[in-house]
Amino acid sequence: MKLDTPESYERPEVRELLAQLRTELDGFLEGMMSAKNVSPKIPHDINSIVFLGVGGSGIVGDLLSDITAKRRDLPILCHKDYFRPPYLTRDALIVAVSYSGNTTETLSAMVEAYDAGLPTFAITSGGLMKEICKKLGIPVVEVRAGLLPRMAVPHMLGAAVSVLASAEFVRITTDEFKSAIEEAKRAQESVEVHKPLESNVAKYTANCIYNKIAFIYSHGYLSSVGYRLKCQLNENAKMLAVNQGLPEVLHNDIEGWNPAVANCLAVVMLRYKSEHMVIREALDRMETILKDRLGVAVSKIVSEGDSDITNILSAMVICDYVSLYAAIMRGADPIRVDRIRSMREGIMSNVRLLEQMARRFKVESK
Ligand code: F6R
Repeated sequence: MKLDTPESYERPEVRELLAQLRTELDGFLEGMMSAKNVSPKIPHDINSIVFLGVGGSGIVGDLLSDITAKRRDLPILCHKDYFRPPYLTRDALIVAVSYSGNTTETLSAMVEAYDAGLPTFAITSGGLMKEICKKLGIPVVEVRAGLLPRMAVPHMLGAAVSVLASAEFVRITTDEFKSAIEEAKRAQESVEVHKPLESNVAKYTANCIYNKIAFIYSHGYLSSVGYRLKCQLNENAKMLAVNQGLPEVLHNDIEGWNPAVANCLAVVMLRYKSEHMVIREALDRMETILKDRLGVAVSKIVSEGDSDITNILSAMVICDYVSLYAAIMRGADPIRVDRIRSMREGIMSNVRLLEQMARRFKVESK
């Protein structure tokens, strides 16, 4: 079996992703450390926290929203566009996240929010974002440079948690994070390269979906992990994937499945031990219909932890390994993202927006 053969891991790009995956979880605490000395002045009467960012950086807000769902009093919203959300009042706190610091969408929405007088802080490894923030006096957490943006998620997440926890907008301690990371490391070990396919859920899942379009079904606090898996399959394995949430799909999606699509579509269910009885029953029922009646391949990733943070981190790391294994099965390059780059550089109005900002703030456009 390809995934159990050491030669499958010899391609330099596979080795590089694997190296970043193996140290991924350590990024949380490193990110928290990077934010230690950044304490933006945030008014205490804010009524929402709005994350700006797209792609690998945008997922930071989605994950944090799920991680802190039961540990905060304010909503966390995620906005992924060139323009600041029209619904914002001055009572929102803006968190602009761009790993490269050169993403037009995030920069232009951040500048619009700043112009509207909204309290803002940023998380980046450098680029224009760092320069513009310096000019505008926006506090910045600078995380370690040199990673793939999508693999720097733990760094950026740790940074965001650190700032929001010290401003008492979320109730989460470093110790809680540390113990969740230790448990997630055990989950990671269970899907490592040396674990054979028959006892390795990440290899098994990748093997079920790699030559199909993956439909991911997720619920509750694993919704952001479902979206993370979709993005990682897109970018690392160069395959199409869709993330859908329960219970909504019980009212539409389920009607669309038929035996004719079983050859080209496969399902991944993200599940956790403590899921509500109604969700458990719904997913079990969906599995029976899809697998037994329609012949669709269904694989399941079950997160075994006792807390929401542990489940989210463990499921995320397992899903990241799924994307690596799917890339290997497809012979895809899990590092290069040439089309994303060609979109950035080929959409001329995107380039012009970036140049305008560079001119306005007298910084060098990248
Ligand atoms: C590339 C990746 C992308 C980027 C996205 C936005 O590894 O994950 O999804 O995250 O193109 O770029 P940044 O994160 O630099 O703002």
